[in-house]
Amino acid sequence: MIIAIDGPAASGKSTIAKRLAAKLNFNYLDTGAMYRALTWKVLQEKINPYDEDRVVNLLKKIKISQNQEIGENKSLVFSLYVDGEKVDEEIRSPLVSQNVSLVSKFLKVRRAMVKVQRKISKGGNIVVEGRDIGTVVFPHADFKFFLTATLEERARRRAKELQEKGIPVDFETLKKEIVLRDKIDSSREHSPLKKAKEAIVIDSTNLTPDAVIEKITQIIKERRKEI
Ligand code: DC
Repeated sequence: MIIAIDGPAASGKSTIAKRLAAKLNFNYLDTGAMYRALTWKVLQEKINPYDEDRVVNLLKKIKISQNQEIGENKSLVFSLYVDGEKVDEEIRSPLVSQNVSLVSKFLKVRRAMVKVQRKISKGGNIVVEGRDIGTVVFPHADFKFFLTATLEERARRRAKELQEKGIPVDFETLKKEIVLRDKIDSSREHSPLKKAKEAIVIDSTNLTPDAVIEKITQIIKERRKEI
C-alpha cells in the first residue's frame, strides 16, 4: 500500500509521515530529503545551482541512499547518505533550503529522482512525502493526503525547529523564504506542487501532530471498510 503525503514547505509533512509510518509499521520515504541531498552536494562542489548540465552530471556521479530504523518510543529515525556520508543535519541548513527549489526544477533531475523513488517503494507498504507524490510519482497511490497550515503557523514551526538546533532565525526572513520556495515549487514547469484531484486536504494549523495522525488513520480505516 502506498500513502502519499504532499504539501507546501514546512506544513508538517515529515513529522506526520514519519509518525504515521511508525504507527502502521510501514516504510517511509522523504523525497524532499533526496532533493536536499543533491542541493547540498551542488553547494559543496561549488556548482552554480542554475547550471542544469553541471547539476545533472553531478547527480549521475553521486549515490544517494537511505536508511530507517526504529528509535526511542517507537519513533522512526530516517537517515540520508550521499556517497556513504550521513547528511541529515547538513541538508536542513538554511543555505540548502534557499537553493533546493532551483535544483529540483530541472526535468532530468526529477526524472532520475522519480525513478529511484519508485524503485525504493516497489511492492511494499510505504508512506511517501513530497510535492508531486500524488500527482506524478504515484498517481495510483492508495491514499493521498495534502497537508496544509497557514503561513504564520508554518513559519512558527520552522523557526522553532531551527532554534532548537541553535540556528539563529529572523522570523520575517524565514516567512519570505517559505513564500518564495512555495512560489517556485508550485509554478515550475515540471511536476509542480499541486494537490492531486482526489487528495484529502488536512489543515493542521490548529491540530497537534497526534490529532492529524488520528484523522488520517481514521480516514484510512473507514475507506478500507468501504472497499
Ligand atoms: O519537503 P522539503 O521541504 O524537505 O523539500 C525540499 C524541496 O525539495 C522543496 O522545496 C521542493 C523539492 N521537492 C520536490 O521538488 N519534489 C518532491 N517530491 C519533494 C521535494
